Amino acid sequence: MKHLLGIEDLSKEALLGLIENAESFVEVSEREIKKVPSLRGKTIVNFFMEPSTRTRASFEIAAKRLSADTINISAGASSVVKGETLLDSARTLEAMAPDILVVRHKDSGSAKFLAKYLRKTSVVNAGDGLHEHPTQALLDCLSLKQYFASQGRGLFGLKVAIVGDVFHSRVARSNLLAHLKLGNTVRLVGPRTLVPREFAMESAFGPNIEIFDNLAEGLLGVDVVLCLRMQLERQNGFFVPSIQEYSREFCVSVKAIEKYCPSAVVLHPGPVNRGVEISGELVDSPRSLVNRQVTNGVAVRMAVLFGLSTQGADRKEEKS
Ligand code: CP
Repeated sequence: MKHLLGIEDLSKEALLGLIENAESFVEVSEREIKKVPSLRGKTIVNFFMEPSTRTRASFEIAAKRLSADTINISAGASSVVKGETLLDSARTLEAMAPDILVVRHKDSGSAKFLAKYLRKTSVVNAGDGLHEHPTQALLDCLSLKQYFASQGRGLFGLKVAIVGDVFHSRVARSNLLAHLKLGNTVRLVGPRTLVPREFAMESAFGPNIEIFDNLAEGLLGVDVVLCLRMQLERQNGFFVPSIQEYSREFCVSVKAIEKYCPSAVVLHPGPVNRGVEISGELVDSPRSLVNRQVTNGVAVRMAVLFGLSTQGADRKEEKS
């Protein structure tokens, strides 16, 4: 694996391998000295052309915990504001010999585009438009693996409801692909304008997709509820009558979970708009894995950076 551009490119085995490797990195962040020498001498560039708190911070922390050198470039503080193209900027950075370029960009396909033209540098997609956010899906799966292990279950045979603005969500696409590869059933739940019917017909996705435009029906009996933010920054029109109207129909609350899927756990990729797509009470409740997701983000990004840097070397030997 030279790049990580999307869950779509991963086999089921590669997906499970990354989740398992990430699980083994969790304990590094629990040590008193949170550092291993694995990537000493490697350079990671975080090239973030869109705002981010969780993804950017956790890629930087992950790189530092692996002893790599890191720099962060953001859109407003880069020569992109002077008119430099994305490719010229990336080629300029490549001329300084980084090992990995972590890219977030508003345009779908931007990470793949850079991977095609950069000659030596590995590219990691940290979110491209409404296309994919592969490390988010990996950390979501790791959080579910840990939770269901504590219940004596595995990551398989799950019913997963993805609720909200599916159309504009790269998190939804990456999670959908991950769960279909794992053989889980995915329900896409939301207003018809925000849940493309084509998803159910898409032959690449297979038959394990169900679509609901009623929250109660969509939540009934599921094991996992993944709530999505209304991505207003990507909506170039009116997809719902109003945010208040949307929330009345689709805001996921403790009451709804207790009524329709009392044993479910709840995920949210963040940032959360409390009271819009999910109630504040549910975010803070014991069935919410939101904080665990953030914690696991570091381990997942350590596994990805390590995997791309070492290309198959024995991680266990190098880690300590
Ligand atoms: N989940 C996620 O991508 O969050 P950020 O936009 O804060 O990185």
